[in-house]
Amino acid sequence: MANVVVVGAQWGDEGKGKIVDWLSERADVIARFQGGHNAGHTLVIGNTVYKLSLLPSGIVRKGKMAVIGNGVVLDPWALFAEIDKLTAQGVEIGPDNLMIAENTPLILPLHQDLDQLREEAAGASKIGTTGRGIGPAYEDKVGRRTIRVADLGDEETLDSRLDRLLAHHDALRQGLGATPIDRAELRAKLLEIAPKLLQFAQPAWKVMNDYRRAGKRILFEGAQGSLLDIDFGTYPYVTSSTTMSGMAATGTGMGPSAIGFVLGIVKAYTTRVGSGPFPTELDDADGQRLGERGHEFGTVTGRKRRCGWFDAVLVRQTCAISGVNGIALTKLDVLDGFETLKICTGYEIDGQHFDHLPTAAALQDKVRPVYEEMPGWQQSTQGARSWADLPAEAIKYVRRIEELIQCPVALLSTSPERDDTILVTDPFAD
Ligand code: GDP
Ligand code: IMO
Ligand code: MG
Repeated sequence: MANVVVVGAQWGDEGKGKIVDWLSERADVIARFQGGHNAGHTLVIGNTVYKLSLLPSGIVRKGKMAVIGNGVVLDPWALFAEIDKLTAQGVEIGPDNLMIAENTPLILPLHQDLDQLREEAAGASKIGTTGRGIGPAYEDKVGRRTIRVADLGDEETLDSRLDRLLAHHDALRQGLGATPIDRAELRAKLLEIAPKLLQFAQPAWKVMNDYRRAGKRILFEGAQGSLLDIDFGTYPYVTSSTTMSGMAATGTGMGPSAIGFVLGIVKAYTTRVGSGPFPTELDDADGQRLGERGHEFGTVTGRKRRCGWFDAVLVRQTCAISGVNGIALTKLDVLDGFETLKICTGYEIDGQHFDHLPTAAALQDKVRPVYEEMPGWQQSTQGARSWADLPAEAIKYVRRIEELIQCPVALLSTSPERDDTILVTDPFAD
């Protein structure tokens, strides 16, 4: 019985939330292992729409354990706002179905300040972050000056952590023309939220390993996408965490052998929010059509997502780096009605052929996609629940993607609705 890791194989918003929710029926434990509330995952279950940012997508199902692992950066106020919103939608959340690793670093208001100040100062070269303080929070973690969940349990520890943290931030803020941090106010805010947060805190690594020994099925839920990965993404236009599958282990306190099947979530075309290179981006009527049919607006910031054709070069690359065993291909229905579809099969840079995206920014800027054309289909695939419901051209498109990315399709999604999902290979059965 395999544990499954779900990772986005493009620039995020591939439909991870929908797939994790669908798969979580078969799982006992659903764990987030990186990122924070920069994520926006939409689940559609009948007439109800849930929008999750920090809580694992399995939380809406009863009897499942949701885990926020140490690899996440956690904004406690955002967490409780999300819990309140879901509670109002009838989802029960308490320490019996939500556990937070006690070594999880916190996102504080000062991280959001810094994120926004830096973006403003960067002008045209801004990254286009979600403004949630993700980058600054991860910087403080590796800078060894962060406040972690467990630190809230002891005032003396908290004071010494605050000393270190504020010495750094006040100097930075001064340079950016911002006022110093009001230490007393921040301290009071943290002590106020501490008991609420600490009731969920546990040595998650230990509990997770117990779950594993007890034969529980674990579903690891990645956020963002592989091309936003801090090492392998389109740096510096990336997020500040490792979004690749290997992070599932270190981000929850388990060894890599805990990972059985790596499921890459892949949109049938490509989107991106924020700045940075995007070889197959379209700013024509086809791009417009993808955005409209796909409702491509960010869940977190409401920004319009940039849209383009499917880029097989990038997905082949990210599937290799994450060791993807199979993909869930989503939003196939958005392609219904196109006369012709294009798939990027390679790049041309200064007359030279590339079968991967080179790392050098100067080369990335000059990338020209090489396309292969395929006939589209005029029938609707929306809501299809079996292969037999798909037109021949749609099947050919899916098969061609499998060939080009060198990875089989395990799941196919044909609408936002939970059950409009075709199972080809059960990732848990591996
Ligand atoms: P995530 O960040 O990867 O979880 O993806 P988002 O939830 O941000 O964005 C995916 C959007 O597409 C959401 O609004 C989903 O409801 C929707 N969606 C997911 N799968 C499908 C699909 O197969 N077809 C269509 N039309 N929409 C889908
Ligand atoms: P989900 O989980 C799409 C993008 C931002 C920006 C860059 C850095 O919904 O797929 P950050 O705030 O993380 O420092 O921003 O990363 N970004 C996402 N784009 N989906 C996401 O999450 C994203 N999370 C961050 O737009 O370009
Ligand atoms: Mg999203």
